[in-house]
Amino acid sequence: MKMLVAGGAGFIGSHLIDALLEENHDVVCIDNFFNGTLQNIDHLREHPRFRFYEQDLCDFETLSDTFRQEQFDFVFHLAANSDIQASVIDPKIEYSNTYGTTFNLLECMRVHGVSKFFFASTSAVYGEKMGVRMDEYSAPLEPISYYGAAKLGSEALISAYSFMNSFSTLIFRFPNVIGPRLTHGVIYDFIKRLRANPKELLILGDGTQAKPYMHVFDLINGIATMKDTLQEGVQLFNIGVETQTTVTRIANIICEMMNLDNVIYNYTGGRGGWRGDVPVFSYSLDKIHSTGWKARWTSDEAVSKTVAEVI
Ligand SMILES: NC(=O)c1ccc[n+]([C@@H]2O[C@H](COP(=O)([O-])OP(=O)(O)OC[C@H]3O[C@@H](n4cnc5c(N)ncnc54)[C@H](O)[C@@H]3O)[C@@H](O)[C@H]2O)c1
Repeated sequence: MKMLVAGGAGFIGSHLIDALLEENHDVVCIDNFFNGTLQNIDHLREHPRFRFYEQDLCDFETLSDTFRQEQFDFVFHLAANSDIQASVIDPKIEYSNTYGTTFNLLECMRVHGVSKFFFASTSAVYGEKMGVRMDEYSAPLEPISYYGAAKLGSEALISAYSFMNSFSTLIFRFPNVIGPRLTHGVIYDFIKRLRANPKELLILGDGTQAKPYMHVFDLINGIATMKDTLQEGVQLFNIGVETQTTVTRIANIICEMMNLDNVIYNYTGGRGGWRGDVPVFSYSLDKIHSTGWKARWTSDEAVSKTVAEVI
């Protein structure tokens, strides 16, 4: 098939492209390097079944021309603003790069007759639900970040477009995803800070924030497996790992693997790392596990593996 990976120069999208090429598909990547890098796709420069367009997905006319030219069979939408702290200052970034890109891709699919769709959603759509184990049927969904809101709005648009146009759609709500080519998040930040100052580490919040961390290879395996089971309508899954890792534990793992002793941790305090951060969450994976698919690495294993891969 001819696959479009929107946001393919990013961390997760570039791994998805590798996997799709491995399966002998033709892959087209569209990215404007808002947060992605040429480095992530540089190894594909000479690949005969890979093509890259440096384009802003918010530009509907140009995107529509590319759809007309390429005649895609399947659209994977991984473009979004991944710098959540940036949109805390300027929420419009979410409206354009997270929600607007979804609208333009869906509209191009409608106009150009493409019916297979994958969407990278997030656990952030649930908001902060202390002590509640969220599943795909839980309500109400009350995101507490602009990013979570733009993803939830995207899910709503996808539902309508899929119904109105008989699309076959797969939505995954990702947890924190980590691994090689990581460009943001706690592991990335801690390693950067410790390289600059190996004696002290600034930790946002009180360090007890606990979340499931999933290795990107597990996530890609889940997408690659489940994309082959598409059926008309929307299939929505939480995807992740059952265990969690605290922020202080991540700091300990990184210090140990960087051979740093007696690092002083300076906590900013407060339960969340920043406004809009959900400090603790766990969600049900029963639905995806019932398909027979399961992640290979636990949260702690994914953290250790990632640190080893990126230091
Ligand atoms: N990394 C995680 O932990 C995580 C968790 C939940 C959901 N997700 C979702 O998974 C997807 C991929 O995340 P990632 O971590 O690889 O982020 P990323 O920033 O590395 O990748 C997103 C890509 O989208 C591109 N992009 C953004 N706006 C664009 C636009 N207007 N036009 C063209 N390209 C544009 C960026 O340049 C970037 O390459 C995103 O949708 C993200 O919201 C990621």
